[in-house]
Amino acid sequence: MNTQRKPLIAGNWKMNYDHLQALAFLQKLSWSLKNTAYDSSVTEVAVFPPFTDLRSAQTIVASEKLPIKIGAQDVSHEQSGAYTGDIAAAFLSSLDVSYVIVGHSERREYHAETDSLVGKKSAAALTAGITPVICVGESLQQREEQGTVVPLVQLTEVLAEVPEGAEFVIAYEPVWAIGSGQAATAAQAQEMCSHIRSKLRELRGEEVASATRILYGGSVKSDNIAEFMQQPDVDGALVGGASLKIDEFTKIVQYQTGLAE
Ligand code: PGA
Repeated sequence: MNTQRKPLIAGNWKMNYDHLQALAFLQKLSWSLKNTAYDSSVTEVAVFPPFTDLRSAQTIVASEKLPIKIGAQDVSHEQSGAYTGDIAAAFLSSLDVSYVIVGHSERREYHAETDSLVGKKSAAALTAGITPVICVGESLQQREEQGTVVPLVQLTEVLAEVPEGAEFVIAYEPVWAIGSGQAATAAQAQEMCSHIRSKLRELRGEEVASATRILYGGSVKSDNIAEFMQQPDVDGALVGGASLKIDEFTKIVQYQTGLAE
């Protein structure tokens, strides 16, 4: 973590919780954050519920002024038209969606999403005023055979579709660490996030490289978040399983308390 960049703790709910559960969860999460003196000027919190929850989430966040940003888990690269089942970025921005995850390894694997498509989705999100959270990460086999190369190639190809001057977040999520309980070590996360920042410097210049937040994701829990956040190039976390539990997610958001102890 670097004080220039505001940490972002992002909860990716994946295909969990319907809109009623989302309402109850967000209400309880906000109480829990309040009870632990959460300060939104120090750390930013975002949750990424399924599409069908977004309207409910928007309503409760707006009506109760909750200090929680809303994100979506996917977006179409097209603006409108005959694309059955797809969701346009403009629909998301009209629900006050601030972020959208693009290129998650589950979408790359189950929906055959390519870097070029991920780049086009990022560009579509940006056009609608939504910040893409661009996920990159290598499988175990790719790590063994190619070291740190794959996430850097993914980033390069995605950014080829993203206009200069755009603001985005990057999430480094090693595929082998997602949902496995086997998180990367803090040193492994730092190593890759630092390579990612160098690649950004090469592609977009120093200003973008030093302003862009790079998150780590993959089996983040309350007992390992502090170590990740102590790394100079890790600016937050993309949290899956542990974001579905109020207490656990609150502790992750309040990782500073862990650092102070
Ligand atoms: P996990 O998922 O925290 O359950 O490993 C992370 C993610 O897929 O974003």
